[in-house]
Amino acid sequence: MTTQGRSTLREVKDDACWKEMKLSDTFDTANREQYRPAFHHTPLYGWMNDPNGMFFKDGTWHLYYQYNPYGSKWQNMSWGHSTSKDLITWEHQPVALEVDGLGHVFSGSSVVDSAGTAGFGKDAIVALYTSCDASQYQSMAYSTDGGTTFQRYAGNPVLTLESEARDPNMFWDEKAGQWVMTLAHALDHEILFFTSPDLKVWTLQSAFGKGEGAQDGVWECPDLFKLKVEGTDEEKWVLICNLNPGGPFGGSATQYFIGDFDGKTFTSDTDASGRIPTKWMDFGKDHYATVSWSGTPQNRRTVIGWMSNWQYAAEVPTTQYRSANTLPRDLSLFRAPDGEIYLASAPAAELTALRGTLACKAKKATAGKKPCVFELPAAQRGICEILLDIDARKADSVSIDITNKAGERVALTYNPAAHTLAFDRRNSGLKDFSKDFPAVTVAPTFENGRKISLRIFIDRSSIEVFGNNGHFVSTNLVFPTQPYSKLSVTSHGGSTKISNLNIFSIKEQ
Ligand code: FRU
Repeated sequence: MTTQGRSTLREVKDDACWKEMKLSDTFDTANREQYRPAFHHTPLYGWMNDPNGMFFKDGTWHLYYQYNPYGSKWQNMSWGHSTSKDLITWEHQPVALEVDGLGHVFSGSSVVDSAGTAGFGKDAIVALYTSCDASQYQSMAYSTDGGTTFQRYAGNPVLTLESEARDPNMFWDEKAGQWVMTLAHALDHEILFFTSPDLKVWTLQSAFGKGEGAQDGVWECPDLFKLKVEGTDEEKWVLICNLNPGGPFGGSATQYFIGDFDGKTFTSDTDASGRIPTKWMDFGKDHYATVSWSGTPQNRRTVIGWMSNWQYAAEVPTTQYRSANTLPRDLSLFRAPDGEIYLASAPAAELTALRGTLACKAKKATAGKKPCVFELPAAQRGICEILLDIDARKADSVSIDITNKAGERVALTYNPAAHTLAFDRRNSGLKDFSKDFPAVTVAPTFENGRKISLRIFIDRSSIEVFGNNGHFVSTNLVFPTQPYSKLSVTSHGGSTKISNLNIFSIKEQ
């Protein structure tokens, strides 16, 4: 019996190998797994879900995460910790926070308290997380060594509510001169807004969400920040609200609202019909619990998500570890042809440093009924980055197939009249571990002119498709039994022009 991928005691017993028991104070961390990603963040061993408490300070990106250091299924929730200088290579750090008397250490956020408002000194790192036992409380921990070790605040919990509420996310509101916290009122399907002068005493100011957006499942892992609309000086607030289940393709997904925030209350924009639209950040099945780093340089709003889905995260065919994070993405806002403002998620600029050799290049090619076929690099078992521009002004639809020698295939279909890109992984490789895994996901392409540019990252068990510099994204896990080795473009109902095709191998990390 699994509850949303979280194992029960009975199941843990069934999972474990009872034929032989050995005592050890270390874990085997040598990577022998076929599906462990080559350029995505994964824990060294054990189970991982949501990214937590991310902050940037002195050139280092800190990434904490929901972690079970004792097994590869959900249990013993702790904060694992990794650091990076370039958002590509991650160094594993000791576990930052482990279960205490108040329970599991659930998701939360951290800030650099540069003025020392919480009383732990200037530049202390202050983290708020949810303590989860029979109830859920918000607790505090702080670090005076830059995020390596944390002390628990003696006055924990700092916030208790009568109903389930979790995943506190804070930021400093420059204008009001106070801290703001968003908290997911999980079962009530709303986000609560609190303010505080010192991160310890929190006053409830407002709530947003009841009856709005996708309302299934539970609301979790909120985030709130301001961004400029591309090409204008207009600023809008974005409220991120992950939910599970209830995503557009089943299970977990990230929805967001665009609107205004006056320091206390969030008001969502409405569409032409006067309704608050439901918007999704990623149109694949494996993008969840996405939140942003605090303290990022140059006003960047950089996010990372958990690259899995509670429907099958505990069943995916890996053993030593479970789950990776998505590639880091930088957010911006753009106005689409329908007049609405949407969130774009572009691959972080640092990711171009992943590129190795240019394995295949075509300045121009024309696809018809007969496909244009391009080889994917064989080095490092097929991992690569693919860039290509597609002009489908003369075509009804375009098939972009990623295939291997075992006959497995990821089928992308661009439909210019419907403005969609579908991602079909029903025959992509291993899929029988969960009835919810085989799926076709569909992204709106938000273009107007039957042309799209794609940037596709293929790792050992994932494909992320970024369209038009992140105006649409599909993130999906795949488990091919052999490396993908070919990209074929076929045009239906007329020809399709391909240009600027570049396929890069990925440098060994
Ligand atoms: C989201 C979530 C959070 C919670 C954490 C527990 O995936 O359910 O709401 O804090 O995972 O691991």
